[in-house]
Amino acid sequence: MNMDGKTVLITGSTDGVGRYVATRLAAAGAKVLIHGRDQARAETLVDEIKRAGHAAPTFYQADLSSLAGVRQLAQSVIAGHRRLDVFVSNAGIGSQNEGPERQTSKDGYELRFAVNYLSGFLLANRLLPLLKAAAPSRIVNVASLGQHPIDFDDVMITRGYSGSRAYAQSKLSQIMFTIDLAAELKGSGVTVNSLHPATYMNTTMVRAGGITPMSTVEQGGDAILHLAVGDDVAGKSGLFFNGMNEAKANPQAYDATARQRLRALSLELTGLAAG
Ligand SMILES: NC(=O)c1ccc[n+]([C@@H]2O[C@H](COP(=O)([O-])OP(=O)(O)OC[C@H]3O[C@@H](n4cnc5c(N)ncnc54)[C@H](OP(=O)(O)O)[C@@H]3O)[C@@H](O)[C@H]2O)c1
Repeated sequence: MNMDGKTVLITGSTDGVGRYVATRLAAAGAKVLIHGRDQARAETLVDEIKRAGHAAPTFYQADLSSLAGVRQLAQSVIAGHRRLDVFVSNAGIGSQNEGPERQTSKDGYELRFAVNYLSGFLLANRLLPLLKAAAPSRIVNVASLGQHPIDFDDVMITRGYSGSRAYAQSKLSQIMFTIDLAAELKGSGVTVNSLHPATYMNTTMVRAGGITPMSTVEQGGDAILHLAVGDDVAGKSGLFFNGMNEAKANPQAYDATARQRLRALSLELTGLAAG
Protein backbone atom coordinates (compact mmCIF):
# COMPACT_ATOMS: atom_id res chain seq x y z
CA MET A 1 0.00 0.00 0.00
CA ASN A 2 1.56 3.31 -1.10
CA MET A 3 -0.44 6.37 -0.09
CA ASP A 4 2.21 9.03 -0.72
CA GLY A 5 0.56 12.29 -1.72
CA LYS A 6 -2.93 11.08 -0.75
CA THR A 7 -5.17 12.77 1.79
CA VAL A 8 -7.61 10.68 3.81
CA LEU A 9 -10.24 11.57 6.39
CA ILE A 10 -11.43 8.91 8.82
CA THR A 11 -14.19 9.90 11.21
CA GLY A 12 -14.14 8.18 14.59
CA SER A 13 -10.43 7.46 14.41
CA THR A 14 -9.55 8.25 18.02
CA ASP A 15 -10.60 4.71 18.98
CA GLY A 16 -11.49 1.24 17.72
CA VAL A 17 -11.25 0.18 14.11
CA GLY A 18 -10.96 3.77 12.83
CA ARG A 19 -7.81 4.21 14.89
CA TYR A 20 -6.31 1.10 13.31
CA VAL A 21 -7.19 2.28 9.78
CA ALA A 22 -5.67 5.72 10.46
CA THR A 23 -2.46 4.14 11.74
CA ARG A 24 -2.13 1.88 8.70
CA LEU A 25 -2.79 4.70 6.23
CA ALA A 26 -0.31 6.99 7.97
CA ALA A 27 2.30 4.23 7.81
CA ALA A 28 1.63 3.96 4.07
CA GLY A 29 2.49 7.65 3.62
CA ALA A 30 -0.96 9.26 3.55
CA LYS A 31 -1.71 12.66 4.95
CA VAL A 32 -4.23 11.50 7.56
CA LEU A 33 -7.02 13.61 9.00
CA ILE A 34 -8.22 12.01 12.19
CA HIS A 35 -11.45 12.86 13.94
CA GLY A 36 -13.27 12.24 17.20
CA ARG A 37 -14.45 13.99 20.34
CA ASP A 38 -11.72 13.00 22.73
CA GLN A 39 -8.69 15.32 22.61
CA ALA A 40 -6.51 13.14 24.85
CA ARG A 41 -7.06 9.98 22.80
CA ALA A 42 -6.33 11.96 19.63
CA GLU A 43 -3.06 13.31 21.06
CA THR A 44 -1.95 9.82 22.02
CA LEU A 45 -2.59 8.62 18.46
CA VAL A 46 -0.77 11.59 16.91
CA ASP A 47 2.26 10.91 19.15
CA GLU A 48 2.20 7.21 18.33
CA ILE A 49 2.18 7.86 14.57
CA LYS A 50 4.94 10.48 14.87
CA ARG A 51 7.09 8.19 17.01
CA ALA A 52 6.76 5.50 14.34
CA GLY A 53 8.39 7.99 11.93
CA HIS A 54 5.32 8.98 9.91
CA ALA A 55 3.79 12.38 9.15
CA ALA A 56 1.73 13.69 12.08
CA PRO A 57 -1.99 13.42 11.42
CA THR A 58 -4.21 16.48 11.81
CA PHE A 59 -6.88 16.14 14.48
CA TYR A 60 -10.39 17.49 13.90
CA GLN A 61 -12.51 17.57 17.01
CA ALA A 62 -16.24 17.51 16.39
CA ASP A 63 -19.30 16.08 18.06
CA LEU A 64 -21.37 14.44 15.35
CA SER A 65 -24.48 14.44 17.52
CA SER A 66 -24.83 18.08 16.50
CA LEU A 67 -25.40 19.06 12.86
CA ALA A 68 -23.71 22.36 13.61
CA GLY A 69 -20.69 20.32 14.71
CA VAL A 70 -20.81 18.33 11.45
CA ARG A 71 -21.01 21.50 9.36
CA GLN A 72 -18.09 22.97 11.29
CA LEU A 73 -16.03 19.83 10.68
CA ALA A 74 -16.75 19.94 6.93
CA GLN A 75 -15.88 23.63 6.90
CA SER A 76 -12.54 23.06 8.64
CA VAL A 77 -11.57 20.24 6.28
CA ILE A 78 -12.54 22.32 3.24
CA ALA A 79 -10.60 25.31 4.57
CA GLY A 80 -7.44 23.24 5.05
CA HIS A 81 -7.44 21.01 1.98
CA ARG A 82 -7.99 21.24 -1.75
CA ARG A 83 -8.50 17.51 -2.29
CA LEU A 84 -9.59 14.41 -0.49
CA ASP A 85 -8.65 11.01 -1.90
CA VAL A 86 -10.48 8.84 0.63
CA PHE A 87 -13.26 9.59 3.09
CA VAL A 88 -14.01 6.81 5.57
CA SER A 89 -17.29 7.54 7.35
CA ASN A 90 -16.69 5.37 10.38
CA ALA A 91 -17.66 7.24 13.56
CA GLY A 92 -20.50 5.64 15.39
CA ILE A 93 -22.15 4.55 18.59
CA GLY A 94 -23.36 1.05 19.30
CA SER A 95 -26.70 -0.12 20.56
CA GLN A 96 -25.88 0.48 24.22
CA ASN A 97 -23.42 3.40 24.45
CA GLU A 98 -24.66 5.80 27.14
CA GLY A 99 -27.41 3.44 28.28
CA PRO A 100 -30.39 1.51 26.95
CA GLU A 101 -32.90 4.39 26.89
CA ARG A 102 -33.88 6.32 23.77
CA GLN A 103 -31.73 9.41 23.40
CA THR A 104 -31.80 12.37 21.07
CA SER A 105 -29.17 14.45 19.31
CA LYS A 106 -28.58 18.15 19.86
CA ASP A 107 -31.03 18.75 17.01
CA GLY A 108 -33.70 16.56 18.62
CA TYR A 109 -33.31 13.53 16.31
CA GLU A 110 -33.02 9.93 17.47
CA LEU A 111 -29.37 9.72 18.48
CA ARG A 112 -28.16 6.68 16.51
CA PHE A 113 -29.88 7.87 13.34
CA ALA A 114 -28.20 11.26 13.83
CA VAL A 115 -24.67 10.17 14.75
CA ASN A 116 -24.32 6.99 12.69
CA TYR A 117 -26.17 8.09 9.58
CA LEU A 118 -27.21 11.74 9.22
CA SER A 119 -23.77 13.11 10.09
CA GLY A 120 -22.13 10.95 7.41
CA PHE A 121 -24.82 11.93 4.90
CA LEU A 122 -24.16 15.61 5.51
CA LEU A 123 -20.37 15.27 5.63
CA ALA A 124 -20.17 13.28 2.40
CA ASN A 125 -22.36 15.79 0.62
CA ARG A 126 -20.34 18.74 1.90
CA LEU A 127 -17.01 17.09 1.05
CA LEU A 128 -17.95 16.09 -2.51
CA PRO A 129 -16.10 19.01 -4.13
CA LEU A 130 -12.83 17.90 -2.45
CA LEU A 131 -13.44 14.27 -3.41
CA LYS A 132 -14.22 15.22 -7.01
CA ALA A 133 -11.03 17.30 -7.13
CA ALA A 134 -9.05 14.17 -6.22
CA ALA A 135 -10.86 11.71 -8.54
CA PRO A 136 -10.43 8.81 -8.77
CA SER A 137 -11.36 8.94 -5.11
CA ARG A 138 -13.39 6.85 -2.72
CA ILE A 139 -15.95 7.05 0.05
CA VAL A 140 -16.31 4.12 2.44
CA ASN A 141 -19.36 3.98 4.69
CA VAL A 142 -18.74 1.72 7.65
CA ALA A 143 -22.12 0.08 8.23
CA SER A 144 -22.98 -3.33 9.68
CA LEU A 145 -24.75 -6.64 9.11
CA GLY A 146 -27.10 -5.42 11.86
CA GLN A 147 -29.83 -3.85 9.67
CA HIS A 148 -33.44 -2.98 10.48
CA PRO A 149 -35.88 -1.54 7.91
CA ILE A 150 -36.96 2.04 8.40
CA ASP A 151 -40.55 2.61 9.48
CA PHE A 152 -41.22 5.86 7.65
CA ASP A 153 -44.13 6.59 9.97
CA ASP A 154 -41.74 6.64 12.94
CA VAL A 155 -38.16 7.17 11.75
CA MET A 156 -37.20 8.63 15.13
CA ILE A 157 -38.43 5.44 16.84
CA THR A 158 -40.69 7.09 19.38
CA ARG A 159 -42.57 3.77 19.77
CA GLY A 160 -41.07 0.37 20.50
CA TYR A 161 -37.56 1.75 20.92
CA SER A 162 -34.61 -0.52 21.45
CA GLY A 163 -30.94 0.34 21.09
CA SER A 164 -30.34 -2.52 18.72
CA ARG A 165 -33.22 -1.51 16.46
CA ALA A 166 -32.01 2.10 16.45
CA TYR A 167 -28.45 1.00 15.67
CA ALA A 168 -29.58 -1.37 12.91
CA GLN A 169 -31.88 1.27 11.34
CA SER A 170 -28.99 3.74 11.23
CA LYS A 171 -26.72 1.15 9.61
CA LEU A 172 -29.26 0.24 6.90
CA SER A 173 -29.72 3.96 6.26
CA GLN A 174 -25.99 4.24 5.52
CA ILE A 175 -26.25 1.38 3.03
CA MET A 176 -29.28 2.92 1.31
CA PHE A 177 -27.45 6.24 1.08
CA THR A 178 -24.43 4.46 -0.43
CA ILE A 179 -26.53 3.03 -3.27
CA ASP A 180 -28.11 6.42 -4.03
CA LEU A 181 -24.90 8.38 -3.83
CA ALA A 182 -23.15 5.90 -6.15
CA ALA A 183 -25.84 6.53 -8.77
CA GLU A 184 -25.52 10.28 -8.32
CA LEU A 185 -21.72 10.11 -8.64
CA LYS A 186 -21.66 7.88 -11.72
CA GLY A 187 -19.06 9.21 -14.14
CA SER A 188 -17.49 11.57 -11.57
CA GLY A 189 -14.61 9.24 -10.64
CA VAL A 190 -15.79 9.17 -7.03
CA THR A 191 -16.92 5.74 -5.87
CA VAL A 192 -18.80 4.88 -2.69
CA ASN A 193 -19.25 1.51 -1.03
CA SER A 194 -20.40 0.31 2.38
CA LEU A 195 -19.47 -2.65 4.51
CA HIS A 196 -19.81 -4.74 7.60
CA PRO A 197 -16.18 -4.70 8.75
CA ALA A 198 -16.24 -7.73 11.09
CA THR A 199 -18.49 -9.20 13.75
CA TYR A 200 -18.03 -7.98 17.32
CA MET A 201 -14.55 -6.59 17.13
CA ASN A 202 -12.88 -5.88 20.43
CA THR A 203 -13.80 -2.19 20.63
CA THR A 204 -15.39 0.26 23.03
CA MET A 205 -18.87 -0.01 21.52
CA VAL A 206 -18.87 -3.80 21.68
CA ARG A 207 -17.65 -3.82 25.27
CA ALA A 208 -20.27 -1.14 26.13
CA GLY A 209 -22.91 -3.59 24.88
CA GLY A 210 -21.64 -6.23 27.27
CA ILE A 211 -20.80 -8.46 24.31
CA THR A 212 -17.83 -10.83 24.24
CA PRO A 213 -15.68 -9.81 21.25
CA MET A 214 -15.41 -12.33 18.40
CA SER A 215 -13.02 -10.59 15.99
CA THR A 216 -10.06 -8.26 16.08
CA VAL A 217 -9.89 -4.66 14.90
CA GLU A 218 -7.24 -5.84 12.43
CA GLN A 219 -9.80 -8.07 10.69
CA GLY A 220 -12.39 -5.32 10.39
CA GLY A 221 -9.77 -2.69 9.64
CA ASP A 222 -8.34 -4.72 6.78
CA ALA A 223 -11.83 -4.99 5.25
CA ILE A 224 -12.19 -1.18 5.46
CA LEU A 225 -8.73 -0.71 3.92
CA HIS A 226 -9.72 -3.10 1.12
CA LEU A 227 -12.58 -0.78 0.10
CA ALA A 228 -10.49 2.35 0.70
CA VAL A 229 -7.47 1.40 -1.39
CA GLY A 230 -7.84 -2.15 -2.83
CA ASP A 231 -7.05 -2.42 -6.55
CA ASP A 232 -9.76 -5.00 -7.16
CA VAL A 233 -12.53 -2.60 -6.07
CA ALA A 234 -11.29 0.33 -8.17
CA GLY A 235 -14.24 1.71 -10.14
CA LYS A 236 -16.78 -0.40 -8.23
CA SER A 237 -19.52 1.60 -6.56
CA GLY A 238 -22.82 1.30 -4.72
CA LEU A 239 -21.96 -2.10 -3.27
CA PHE A 240 -22.24 -3.62 0.20
CA PHE A 241 -19.48 -5.89 1.49
CA ASN A 242 -19.44 -8.35 4.37
CA GLY A 243 -15.77 -8.19 5.32
CA MET A 244 -13.82 -8.77 2.11
CA ASN A 245 -16.74 -10.11 0.07
CA GLU A 246 -19.60 -8.45 -1.77
CA ALA A 247 -22.89 -9.28 -0.06
CA LYS A 248 -26.61 -8.54 -0.09
CA ALA A 249 -28.03 -6.04 2.38
CA ASN A 250 -31.55 -5.98 3.88
CA PRO A 251 -34.18 -5.96 1.06
CA GLN A 252 -35.22 -2.38 1.90
CA ALA A 253 -31.85 -1.23 0.56
CA TYR A 254 -32.96 -2.27 -2.94
CA ASP A 255 -36.35 -0.53 -2.72
CA ALA A 256 -35.94 2.64 -4.79
CA THR A 257 -39.04 4.23 -3.27
CA ALA A 258 -37.73 3.70 0.27
CA ARG A 259 -34.36 5.15 -0.72
CA GLN A 260 -36.06 8.17 -2.26
CA ARG A 261 -38.06 8.74 0.95
CA LEU A 262 -34.93 8.48 3.06
CA ARG A 263 -33.07 10.84 0.77
CA ALA A 264 -35.84 13.45 0.85
CA LEU A 265 -36.05 13.21 4.64
CA SER A 266 -32.26 13.45 5.05
CA LEU A 267 -32.00 16.50 2.81
CA GLU A 268 -34.74 18.10 4.87
CA LEU A 269 -33.32 17.19 8.30
CA THR A 270 -29.78 18.30 7.45
CA GLY A 271 -30.90 21.53 5.81
CA LEU A 272 -29.29 20.49 2.51
CA ALA A 273 -32.68 20.68 0.82
CA ALA A 274 -32.54 24.44 1.24
CA GLY A 275 -29.22 24.48 -0.67
N1 LIG B 1 -17.18 -3.15 16.67
C1 LIG B 1 -17.80 -3.94 15.82
O1 LIG B 1 -17.80 -5.17 15.96
C2 LIG B 1 -18.52 -3.36 14.63
C3 LIG B 1 -19.27 -4.23 13.82
C4 LIG B 1 -19.92 -3.71 12.71
C5 LIG B 1 -19.80 -2.38 12.43
N2 LIG B 1 -19.07 -1.55 13.23
C6 LIG B 1 -18.99 -0.13 12.90
O2 LIG B 1 -17.63 0.28 12.88
C7 LIG B 1 -17.54 1.67 13.20
C8 LIG B 1 -16.48 1.88 14.28
O3 LIG B 1 -16.86 1.16 15.41
P1 LIG B 1 -15.85 0.76 16.60
O4 LIG B 1 -16.30 -0.57 17.06
O5 LIG B 1 -14.45 0.98 16.17
O6 LIG B 1 -16.30 1.82 17.70
P2 LIG B 1 -15.54 2.52 18.93
O7 LIG B 1 -14.28 1.81 19.26
O8 LIG B 1 -16.57 2.69 19.96
O9 LIG B 1 -15.11 3.93 18.31
C9 LIG B 1 -16.08 4.85 17.88
C10 LIG B 1 -15.43 6.08 17.33
O10 LIG B 1 -16.48 6.99 16.93
C11 LIG B 1 -16.31 8.23 17.59
N3 LIG B 1 -17.60 8.79 17.99
C12 LIG B 1 -18.60 8.19 18.68
N4 LIG B 1 -19.60 9.06 18.89
C13 LIG B 1 -19.22 10.23 18.34
C14 LIG B 1 -19.82 11.51 18.26
N5 LIG B 1 -21.02 11.80 18.79
N6 LIG B 1 -19.14 12.49 17.63
C15 LIG B 1 -17.93 12.25 17.10
N7 LIG B 1 -17.30 11.06 17.15
C16 LIG B 1 -17.95 10.07 17.77
C17 LIG B 1 -15.46 7.93 18.82
O11 LIG B 1 -14.72 9.11 19.13
P3 LIG B 1 -14.47 9.63 20.64
O12 LIG B 1 -14.34 8.41 21.50
O13 LIG B 1 -13.25 10.47 20.53
O14 LIG B 1 -15.66 10.41 20.98
C18 LIG B 1 -14.55 6.82 18.33
O15 LIG B 1 -13.42 7.34 17.67
C19 LIG B 1 -18.95 2.10 13.63
O16 LIG B 1 -19.58 2.76 12.57
C20 LIG B 1 -19.64 0.78 13.91
O17 LIG B 1 -21.04 0.85 13.76
C21 LIG B 1 -18.43 -2.02 14.32
